Amino acid sequence: MYPTDRPRRLRTDGVRPLVSETSLSASDLVAPVFVDATTDERVPIETMPGHERVPVDEAVDRVEEILEPGVEAVILFGIPESKDSEGSRAYAEDGVVQRAIRRIAAETDAYVIGDVCLCEYTDHGHCGVIEESAATDPTLTVKNDETLELLARTAVSQADAGADMVAPSAMTDGQVRAIREALDDGGYEDVALMSYAVKYESAFYGPFRDAADGAPAFGDRRHYQMDPANRREALREARIDAEEGADVLMVKPGLPYLDVVADLREEFDHPIAAYNVSGEYAMLHAAAEKGWLDLDETAHESLLSLKRAGADMIITYFAEDLADRL
Ligand code: PBG
Repeated sequence: MYPTDRPRRLRTDGVRPLVSETSLSASDLVAPVFVDATTDERVPIETMPGHERVPVDEAVDRVEEILEPGVEAVILFGIPESKDSEGSRAYAEDGVVQRAIRRIAAETDAYVIGDVCLCEYTDHGHCGVIEESAATDPTLTVKNDETLELLARTAVSQADAGADMVAPSAMTDGQVRAIREALDDGGYEDVALMSYAVKYESAFYGPFRDAADGAPAFGDRRHYQMDPANRREALREARIDAEEGADVLMVKPGLPYLDVVADLREEFDHPIAAYNVSGEYAMLHAAAEKGWLDLDETAHESLLSLKRAGADMIITYFAEDLADRL
């Protein structure tokens, strides 16, 4: 037998780059930044090696470090000084994220994205207003329509501070329209909106919940985040958000949901974002620490796979390290 078709001809060092279908560059990446109002020094995040919660005074320095290797965009998460049942520090003019955005927008060239959610700001840790008796009755859930108003206020307060883009992640039905209308009414028609359109109820968020202190005090998020079993529903979620005015559609988590990234790529002309979440980062670090995997190689391959599946941009805790090596 003599093979007539020889794909190996195109795998030499000389030709591989010419026939490469996908590439990764620093400008595809968005780096998460945690700003913490409860500390005046940087605090390492144990479950996410290399990441820290930084006080507002250090936010500009932290962002400059990220921009140095060529990353151009950051997404901000806040740890507030206090929490209450309505998450009021999420939409306070002097909230931790608002103060950080003001400084970063004024003093750096970063493209600034604000994560719009309430779970880091509510004392019960859910992504919106909850029923009084929800703690004792697990069938009760976040009150959808009452939450919309608070999310809209949060987005507008971030736009006031100078955010270039807002990214609602609460999985509240109607959140894209509510936020888009509030931004437009406030004169922020140029502020872009990236929807966490397809956000699964995932165990891969574990390390983030430690980092941002955003774990629910009781119950879980399955009444508002998507069931990992569902693929068609992802298209439905994305279609709703596209119709409501999302500029970018996100899938989260990334690697376990490559089929969904590919589906959205196929179905929509919008830019698609993938969120390579905290658990995806932590597991590679943990395995590398044991000497079981090469961290740099597996990180690169993970992000390349997200692009190959159809993502235009990737939110990832590897952003800074990866950009450094690209
Ligand atoms: C807030 C939010 C979460 C993440 C991003 N925004 C936590 C959650 O939904 O539980 C997770 C990000 C990560 O794991 O890296 N709603």
